[in-house]
Amino acid sequence: MNPIDIAIILGSPRKNGNSIALAGQVERGARDSGATVGNFYLHGMDIGFCNGCGKCRERTSKTCVIDDDMQMLYPKLRQAQAILFASPVYWAHVSGQMKVFMDRCFALGGPEGHDMEGKRYGIILTYANSDHFKSGTINAIRTFQDSFRTGIVDIICGNAMGAGEIKENRSIMDSAYNLGKQLVRS
Ligand SMILES: Cc1cc2nc3c(=O)[nH]c(=O)nc-3n(C[C@H](O)[C@H](O)[C@H](O)COP(=O)(O)O)c2cc1C
Repeated sequence: MNPIDIAIILGSPRKNGNSIALAGQVERGARDSGATVGNFYLHGMDIGFCNGCGKCRERTSKTCVIDDDMQMLYPKLRQAQAILFASPVYWAHVSGQMKVFMDRCFALGGPEGHDMEGKRYGIILTYANSDHFKSGTINAIRTFQDSFRTGIVDIICGNAMGAGEIKENRSIMDSAYNLGKQLVRS
């Protein structure tokens, strides 16, 4: 297993889309700062719903009982010093792919604490309605703020509808590049 410094979790199904374009900038910034980066495109992975069994939190258990691609992701997430979540806003929240993934991260917690604590986090959200409240972006922002609290380095919200349109916004593309550098540095 190659060690990675930054795990990039891609929640959009659109490989040529806006959140993945911004995540690519974060990756560039991080790599230019010497970090190793792993990209994980959730839409192409076998990740089932959390079934709420609670087995992952039992003292004798070290992981989730569901045998799917999360078993490959858990060690990557534990090992990464920083995690970038990149998701479109869907129905005033993160995408379904991202939400299912987040639910399964419940298994990273246990009696000794939660393995997602103590990391640095970057958040990328893309949305079509230019108003943070009407678009529902504010809900997605709150989800990450409430989940990761002090570990968040920056939250970048990009307003665009068509796939890849965000690339025309140089300022936000530059902000994403800088976030990549900050995730390594801070
Ligand atoms: C199923 C679906 C639901 C969406 N819901 C919202 C929404 O609630 N608010 C919003 O502003 N945009 C919404 N959009 C627009 C996307 O957030 C927007 O196109 C975004 O740029 C997509 O990012 P991506 O290119 O990374 O996939 C929705 C798009 C889809 C396909």
